Amino acid sequence: MNAPNESEVRSFMQYGHFDDARKEYVITTPNTPLPWINYLGSEDFFGMISNTGGGYAFYRDAKLQRLLRYRYNSVPADVGGRFYYIKERGKAAWSPAFLPTKTPLDAYECRHGLGYTTFLSEKDGLAAELTLFVPIGETCELHDLTLTNRGTLEKRVQIYGCMEWCLWNAVDDAQNYQRNLNIAESEVEPSTIYHVTEYRERRNHYAYYGVNAETSGFDTDRNTFLGHMGDWSAPRAVAEETSYASHITGWYPIACHRLDVTLAPGGSVRACFVLGYGENPKDAKWDADGRVRKDTARRVLAKFADSAAVDAARAELAAYWDRLLSSYRLVSPNEKLNRMANIWHQYQCMVTFNMSRSASYYETGTGRGMGFRDSCQDLFGFVHMVPERARERIIDIASIQFADGSTYHQYQPLTKRGNADIGSGFNDDPLWLVAAAVCYIKETGDFAVLEHPTPFNNKPGSEAPLLEHLRRSVGYIRSHLGPHGLPLIGRADWNDCLNLNCFSETSGESFQTSGPSEGPVAESVFIAAMYVKYAAEYAELLEQVGYEAESVSVRLSVQEMERAVLKHGWDGAWFRRAYDAFGDPVGSKECDEGRIFIEPQGFCVMAGIGVETGEAKKALDSTREHLLGEYGVELLVPCYTRYRKELGEISSYPPGFKENGSVFCHNNPWIVCAEAVIGRGNEAFDVYKRICPAYLEDKSDVHETEPYCYSQTVTGRASGNPGHAKNSWLTGTASWSFVSLSQAILGVKPDYDGLRVEPCLPDELDEYTVERRFRGCLYRIHVKKTGEQSLTVDGKRADRIPLQDRETVTVEVTV
Ligand code: GLC
Ligand code: GLC
Repeated sequence: MNAPNESEVRSFMQYGHFDDARKEYVITTPNTPLPWINYLGSEDFFGMISNTGGGYAFYRDAKLQRLLRYRYNSVPADVGGRFYYIKERGKAAWSPAFLPTKTPLDAYECRHGLGYTTFLSEKDGLAAELTLFVPIGETCELHDLTLTNRGTLEKRVQIYGCMEWCLWNAVDDAQNYQRNLNIAESEVEPSTIYHVTEYRERRNHYAYYGVNAETSGFDTDRNTFLGHMGDWSAPRAVAEETSYASHITGWYPIACHRLDVTLAPGGSVRACFVLGYGENPKDAKWDADGRVRKDTARRVLAKFADSAAVDAARAELAAYWDRLLSSYRLVSPNEKLNRMANIWHQYQCMVTFNMSRSASYYETGTGRGMGFRDSCQDLFGFVHMVPERARERIIDIASIQFADGSTYHQYQPLTKRGNADIGSGFNDDPLWLVAAAVCYIKETGDFAVLEHPTPFNNKPGSEAPLLEHLRRSVGYIRSHLGPHGLPLIGRADWNDCLNLNCFSETSGESFQTSGPSEGPVAESVFIAAMYVKYAAEYAELLEQVGYEAESVSVRLSVQEMERAVLKHGWDGAWFRRAYDAFGDPVGSKECDEGRIFIEPQGFCVMAGIGVETGEAKKALDSTREHLLGEYGVELLVPCYTRYRKELGEISSYPPGFKENGSVFCHNNPWIVCAEAVIGRGNEAFDVYKRICPAYLEDKSDVHETEPYCYSQTVTGRASGNPGHAKNSWLTGTASWSFVSLSQAILGVKPDYDGLRVEPCLPDELDEYTVERRFRGCLYRIHVKKTGEQSLTVDGKRADRIPLQDRETVTVEVTV
């Protein structure tokens, strides 16, 4: 048999396929192994939606300003959010997204695109098309529904659109029933229902749900709508083809509209539902008649009363994404690479920019805010798309740093204040700020940011130029060294679960906040490698801005650190991970478990340590030999089989899970980058492919999470059940994978004075073009393998691509 061609391969995929022309993933069954989700929104209003319609919406903060209820840990897993029902007279009700009714559909397709999701489904000759998105510039979602009669007889149909309100604070909503079951309030107008709970007292915001069509009925009381013992799969109102005009007083508020339509054969109806958020000035909350002031809702509803405005908003959203993605485009013979580089890598990077680690199907939106190190690393992946917002992010992050150079570990997006609950003491944090600032300046050339007056711990009056923050970051590491001259680890480094100073014996206690945060002995080889890499980058930055003497001194300290790593961090065949509080090595052949860890192998080599002297190559060979499994490079082997209080949370996980030896995807691109440093293109690409979702599409049955975005972890071999991914979307893997492909493999690297092109290619890739927008110019960089090194810019030989003041420049590179 001949090998199947690409279009045939698609049809073999069990759950769907990519549609690259439309930049969509098309899911062809509601029966995916897990909810496969997408994000709506790019500014202040956000929503999450799964391929069966579950999810929720919020305004700016998923904990404090939640519009829709969603039940984590619910059974079945994905019930919540936006409920749509289609009911034809005398027939079973069905939902365009399959849930909540679970009525088998004659046709079903879910198209997750950039900032929107479309459901196309059909039942008994009725076809629904439902597209959900957040229009640019507005604080609302549009749910644009068209229903068409494909049959030969007239159909009388009822459409129900229903939202279940969350009482704003998602944590309180799930806990404080003695109060909350008494406070719900709503207002009803024809075609619009307002959620005004707590507006009478201290809130000055409300939510609304309207539709640009005449309605035939409504409900706002959940129990009335669902009926006694009812649930979302079969509400009484829908079964009875009616509405009860219920007015909520306390209990469970919903907003439900019913539209009655009659469709001739071939006829269709289109209605756009609007789920929105409105806010009023505190001193102008009320209308003259004493009711909630509704200017925002009225303006938005009037704007989208006309379907043409809905179409225009769709087009504007598409243009927005085209513009964002146009800064980087790969044209190669490899379809999977093109699809990852041009669509899904960059899309996921924007999602991590918007959400950090707050709201996903695995992060409830009620936990941590923005992480210091997470946000700094996320920036590597979006800086080229939204440089002005990257600048703001850097300043926000630097503003939670303390005057001694250490920093709060997290901050709340709504207040931008450091989060005192988690505190400080994660000693890798300060260096990530240096990494982010250098990355931003290389992309934009905006050296002026270094002058930006930036406070310490948000204290007015404490402002110092951003450069001073970087200086203190580097200084903090230099002044907190342990017995081997390596940096003290504090509460943890990148690996949140390597808690060498915690010694917790009390169940439930947090490994990150209990115990002494500082210890004078436990050291991190990983932070040492970070220092060698990022303090060297800081030294180079200092040269750029004319601080020669300081630069020399920093460089000397980098050399000293490098020597310390080679002396005390080298184990004979790989780099050690750390020294614990007793001065014993972690990640060494001397250990009975946890003999080799991935992080120092990746980062030491990325920092250039041992490249000249051979340790780098040995470390990467050992990585392949011991840590590489089918689904990527595992975090450590052998996994810890019992709890070790001297190591902390890492040993609390069963073997093969999370930090205890899963494939923790975030650090796999470090190995890709490291392989590129020593020039091994095949090995780099091999690791890239093992965790790349597009390459795992045909293993979705095992992998389980979305084949269009990265997940945080994939169970390791020691789990006994390897290959299962968890915690998709919000992971540092997003930015690092994009960096590993675009910079390490394809080799286009922003620098202070232009672009460098240093590809490290696998045998299977011979030729490609990268279109890169950089400081206002579009560079068309054509790379071809010939065995000879050359670079020409518009026909002239050069060693790098200097800055250009033209609009487009053509670059030819041979390697
Ligand atoms: C999570 C955290 C990140 C940490 C990683 C490893 O992804 O968000 O900050 O580095 O786990 O523990
Ligand atoms: C990171 C780790 C997780 C740990 C958590 C603590 O997310 O991945 O294992 O429990 O940090 O904050």
